[in-house]
Amino acid sequence: MRAVYLVFLFLGAVAAQKKYKLCATSAINPVTCVSLGRGENQVSCDTVVDSSECAIKLNRGEVDFGMFTAEEALLAYNFYPSDSQVIAQLKHPERVDETHEFKAVAVVPSTFTEGKLDDLKQGGFCHPGFSKTQLWNDNILKWFEKKIYNQTCDSSLTTAENEAVNLRNYFGKACRPGNWVSEASHDVALKQKYPELCAACDNTTTCQYNNTDAHGHIDALKCLVGGKGKVAYVALSYVQQYFGINNPVPNIDVNTNTSIWNSYRFLCPNGSLEQLNSTNPCSWLKQPWKMILARNEIAAELQEKLKVWLATDSSVQDWTTALKSILQKDTAVEYLPELKSLSAYLSDGRELATTTTTTSCGSNIRWCTINTEETNKCNWIAKAASTHGIQPDVSCKAENSTFECLRSIASDSADIITIDSHYGHFARQVFNLSSVMYTETDDDRNSVVIAVVREGTTYNVSSFATLKSRSACFPEFGGIAWLSFVNAARLNNVISNSCDVVTEVTNLLSGACAPGFGDGNHQNSTTGTTSSKLCSVCPVEANNASCSANPSNIYYGDKGALECLKSGAGDVAFIEYLNLRDDITAGVINASQYRVLCKNGSLALYTGFQVDEQCALSITIDSEVMGRKSASAINTTNTVLALLKIEDWLGYRVETLRPIDVYGPFNGTKNLLFKDSTTGLETTNSTRKAALAYKELFAHYESCITSGSMTVLASFSTILLLFLAHYL
Ligand SMILES: *[C@@H]1O[C@H](CO)[C@@H](O)[C@H](O)[C@H]1NC(C)=O
Ligand SMILES: *[C@@H]1O[C@H](CO)[C@@H](O)[C@H](O)[C@H]1NC(C)=O
Ligand SMILES: *[C@@H]1O[C@H](CO)[C@@H](O)[C@H](O)[C@H]1NC(C)=O
Ligand SMILES: *[C@@H]1O[C@H](CO)[C@@H](O)[C@H](O)[C@H]1NC(C)=O
Ligand SMILES: *[C@@H]1O[C@H](CO)[C@@H](O)[C@H](O)[C@H]1NC(C)=O
Ligand SMILES: *[C@@H]1O[C@H](CO)[C@@H](O)[C@H](O)[C@H]1NC(C)=O
Ligand SMILES: *[C@@H]1O[C@H](CO)[C@@H](O)[C@H](O)[C@H]1NC(C)=O
Ligand SMILES: *[C@@H]1O[C@H](CO)[C@@H](O)[C@H](O)[C@H]1NC(C)=O
Ligand SMILES: *[C@@H]1O[C@H](CO)[C@@H](O)[C@H](O)[C@H]1NC(C)=O
Ligand SMILES: *[C@@H]1O[C@H](CO)[C@@H](O)[C@H](O)[C@H]1NC(C)=O
Ligand SMILES: *[C@@H]1O[C@H](CO)[C@@H](O)[C@H](O)[C@H]1NC(C)=O
Ligand SMILES: *[C@@H]1O[C@H](CO)[C@@H](O)[C@H](O)[C@H]1NC(C)=O
Repeated sequence: MRAVYLVFLFLGAVAAQKKYKLCATSAINPVTCVSLGRGENQVSCDTVVDSSECAIKLNRGEVDFGMFTAEEALLAYNFYPSDSQVIAQLKHPERVDETHEFKAVAVVPSTFTEGKLDDLKQGGFCHPGFSKTQLWNDNILKWFEKKIYNQTCDSSLTTAENEAVNLRNYFGKACRPGNWVSEASHDVALKQKYPELCAACDNTTTCQYNNTDAHGHIDALKCLVGGKGKVAYVALSYVQQYFGINNPVPNIDVNTNTSIWNSYRFLCPNGSLEQLNSTNPCSWLKQPWKMILARNEIAAELQEKLKVWLATDSSVQDWTTALKSILQKDTAVEYLPELKSLSAYLSDGRELATTTTTTSCGSNIRWCTINTEETNKCNWIAKAASTHGIQPDVSCKAENSTFECLRSIASDSADIITIDSHYGHFARQVFNLSSVMYTETDDDRNSVVIAVVREGTTYNVSSFATLKSRSACFPEFGGIAWLSFVNAARLNNVISNSCDVVTEVTNLLSGACAPGFGDGNHQNSTTGTTSSKLCSVCPVEANNASCSANPSNIYYGDKGALECLKSGAGDVAFIEYLNLRDDITAGVINASQYRVLCKNGSLALYTGFQVDEQCALSITIDSEVMGRKSASAINTTNTVLALLKIEDWLGYRVETLRPIDVYGPFNGTKNLLFKDSTTGLETTNSTRKAALAYKELFAHYESCITSGSMTVLASFSTILLLFLAHYL
């Protein structure tokens, strides 16, 4: 009997210690999370990079609850519509009586013909304006206008320009300030071409209101009251503030003349009108408050427990203090009397239709992915782009490898992929692709190519001139180290400007290992050796092949090229330094056995791989977004503008939440869609050093194409195509 009693006690203790895991995004101070772990805590933090990871973990039962904004929940809903319940709202402490975070309303003069939305036609439109520092994203900012005009698409115009045409044709004129698109020169061009859309602004040249406080909402109302437009699309709270409705505190800018506010009405989506002083007026879109989402299984019990924990006496300093500071940071927790499904909670204000609501002008951007994880991330990014109103839509095209993707893009089955700059030359020459955008990285993560020789009392190669009749090791034929070598050799006048680079290099060197070069052996990666000097120092491989660009060739890749040098097969190796940095740091590679040959032709003063900018053969961007060279300018511009908008809303943002990080890890995996080194994107017009240096690597090659004597890689295109099929 006593034993049974003890067992019960034990079980009781276990149950009492059940801990609930809370998603901790970067918005939660890690120190607070540590405090949460102290004492008899019943809640612990589980670190996630963003709310998408939290949603995935909720779905997998790895966490129990998390805090989501409406935008974050809207994205999660698309993938997990029924995994979790809303247990509480997180409201602004001074606005606890309000049902929503904000409501988007349309205000018109009281003379408006009730029931006839088309009365808006040619009447002028007062819009608050675009900026990326506000809560309203493009979806919300464009919600009203897209419901009003009937979209027509002209395939000879970009998506952004079609939008401008539609707006101008319907409203006649407008003030729609801010950046319509995220690339300055395009934005200026659009505003110059469609000045009507700035004609209602205070300053029609800069397309701005006099005052940009309140994100333009108050000024949009002034635009309406000043008669410049027949409708203003703004947040309800600003209407009440501006007209002094339900506002006991007189505001300096408040117009308390009731006969003025009585001259305006709310315009409802069905065309009916409502008084401005109406307590719950019709709106076009309502944003639900931030919320606490919990797994279905524990939602009810957790809500009960939260009520207890958050109500503990504030003089008690324990883990509940930390919990309060997390859940009640700038917010008031309001428990839902009945738990709500995500769809029930969000659909009170937002449209949830998973099918595309309004398809935009312009073709989908088909993003090519190389594995399941990447496809998953792409699907989340595509949905996030669409919930943020970014157009054209992104879709995902799953392939099995980078090579498959390059081919898929070449054959017009996909549109874009990010590649390592190492493959820039292949992508251009073999697949006829071109750069859509360059990626930005921190300076210490640029791609650095250096020439390395064995340290010793004498050097077989001590300058570019002494390369003559020596042998060289390359990670891969046609890779970035090869290109950098060719460029430096040309600059040092050891090879000529001929377009037949292979012959030039063959004539210069006595031998080389440039994996991937050769004819015959690569076609089906079986036997055969090439007689070319460019493969002459490669080892014979297991299957009697040689010069393969795959790990069966021990001289393949950056590590292989260094091995080729170390073994004495080559006198100089051309390598991408960062690919070896970890091995150098770990001591696997002994840096003191090597010395760098600088671009200017002299040896570095010290041994090792650390060299300055002047010495490296090239310092270039690390990766780039590629598309078809033959893509139309319209399609490419659409892609560039959509990618920049994605960066604005899903990239690195200062103090503003994003539901998913387009450059960061997804579901715990790095290097999906973008290399981990990416911090942003820039147009190919970039004048950043690393971008210019990259362009310079291709300048000679481009000039050879133009002059029609393209033999840099051309004779090997077919071989490469077949060969890359196996290894990329
Ligand atoms: C838009 O289309 C609807 C339905 O076809 C039509 O009733 C309405 O008049 C059109 N509006 C405009 C502005 O053309
Ligand atoms: C518009 O803004 C520009 C630049 O700030 C200024 O030079 C110009 O005078 C302004 N125009 C008007 C009408 O205020
Ligand atoms: C904006 O500023 C200009 C110049 O200061 C002024 O003439 C104009 O009346 C102002 N417009 C509004 C709506 O306040
Ligand atoms: C209120 O506005 C009306 C119309 O603009 C004007 O006739 C009236 O004098 C104003 N009243 C006050 C108290 O400002
Ligand atoms: C709004 O104002 C009108 C006219 O001034 C008045 O009749 C009505 O009672 C007011 N409604 C509310 C909800 O205050
Ligand atoms: C139009 O919508 C408003 C609020 O959304 C509603 O109160 C009104 O009854 C509707 N009118 C008609 C004619 O459907
Ligand atoms: C990817 O590889 C798998 C297994 O080899 C195959 O079933 C699938 O069809 C391939 N997918 C594509 C898009 O090539
Ligand atoms: C690239 O373009 C050339 C010339 O236009 C063509 O012969 C070749 O087949 C193209 N390659 C691919 C992979 O589409
Ligand atoms: C592959 O190799 C075999 C013999 O090794 C040869 O008969 C065949 O033609 C090669 N395939 C290609 C595409 O060259
Ligand atoms: C843009 O891309 C789509 C899809 O690849 C294609 O159907 C369309 O013809 C392209 N537009 C132009 C103007 O080339
Ligand atoms: C997340 O990763 C896990 C494995 O770690 C996998 O089972 C799951 O399918 C992934 N989920 C998504 C949405 O990628
Ligand atoms: C690059 O600059 C050229 C000329 O200045 C311009 O026509 C082109 O639109 C720019 N491209 C991008 C992507 O900004």
